Parts: sequence; C-alpha cells; structure tokens
Amino acid sequence: MYKTIKFKKFSDGRGDLIPIEFGKKEHAYDIPFDVKRCYYISAPTNNAIRGKHAHRNLEQVIICVHGSFTLRLDDGENSCSLNLNNNYTGIYIKDLVWRELRDFSENCVILVFASQHYDLNDYVTNYRDFLLLARASKTL
Ligand code: TYD
Repeated sequence: MYKTIKFKKFSDGRGDLIPIEFGKKEHAYDIPFDVKRCYYISAPTNNAIRGKHAHRNLEQVIICVHGSFTLRLDDGENSCSLNLNNNYTGIYIKDLVWRELRDFSENCVILVFASQHYDLNDYVTNYRDFLLLARASKTL
C-alpha cells in the first residue's frame, strides 16, 4: 500500500540537511517518479482532518518536515496508520489509496511531491466510490 523512503540526512552543529534527488532512480532514497508538482501544508489546525480522498492516477511522496502527524492509508482491503515525525522519511503512495491526515502537532509542516499536475478530475472524494474503484482494479 505504501513504501518508506529514507532520505540521506546530513546533521552537524548547524542543523540538518536532507537532499532529495529527482529523476535519477538509482538509489533507494531517490524519488521514484518524475516530479511535476510540489506543495506543502503548514499550520494545520490540531483537530483538522485533511485529505479524505484518493487519486485515480497519481504517485506521491509525503514528508513531515517539521512536527508530527498521523497519516491513515486505506487501499480498500487493508488500512494502516503511520505516525510521521521526522524530516528524513518519505511515504510513497500510488493511485487508489485513500488517505487522511490528522493529529497535527503545533507548527507541523508537510511537504508533498507529486507525479502529475493538479487535476480535480483525478480526485475520488466519495469513500464508497473509492471502494468500488479499488475493488474493481484488484479484480482486473
Ligand atoms: P485540499 O484538496 O482541500 O487539501 P487536502 O488534500 O490537504 O485536504 O486543497 C486545498 C485547496 O488547495 C483546494 O482549493 C485546492 C487547492 N490545491 C491546488 O490548487 N493545487 C494543489 O496541488 C493542491 C494539492 C490543492
């Protein structure tokens, strides 16, 4: 349902530096698709729930660059909750994974890399529709 990417982290007395390479795909820590879009979420309210959708055709890597939050993933058969709380771990997900982001710490910042430009038509925002699509894709 997801893969964990551990980026290299260079830490010294000045702080942390985490490089992220696009399009090389040589190393386990590279982003495994060509990035067309990046966005970040900052100052989410503590009790907010973001996401609550799946995508028909989209690869993403989600990184909690500051603070922590819970990422709940569901592929229509199984679900899991991940506590993202460090700046060198990326969660790679593909299409037809329902995601919810919640339990944000104060000043949480989330960075997302995506394989496609923003397209509202790619969103599945109804959970029942998502289940139908996810199960149909598994029986193909
Ligand atoms: P929204 O989908 O509600 O965020 P989340 O998935 O975290 O719940 O997006 C909030 C707004 O931002 C919405 O009006 C659409 C816009 N938006 C873009 O314009 N481009 C993007 O790449 C994304 C992800 C959202």
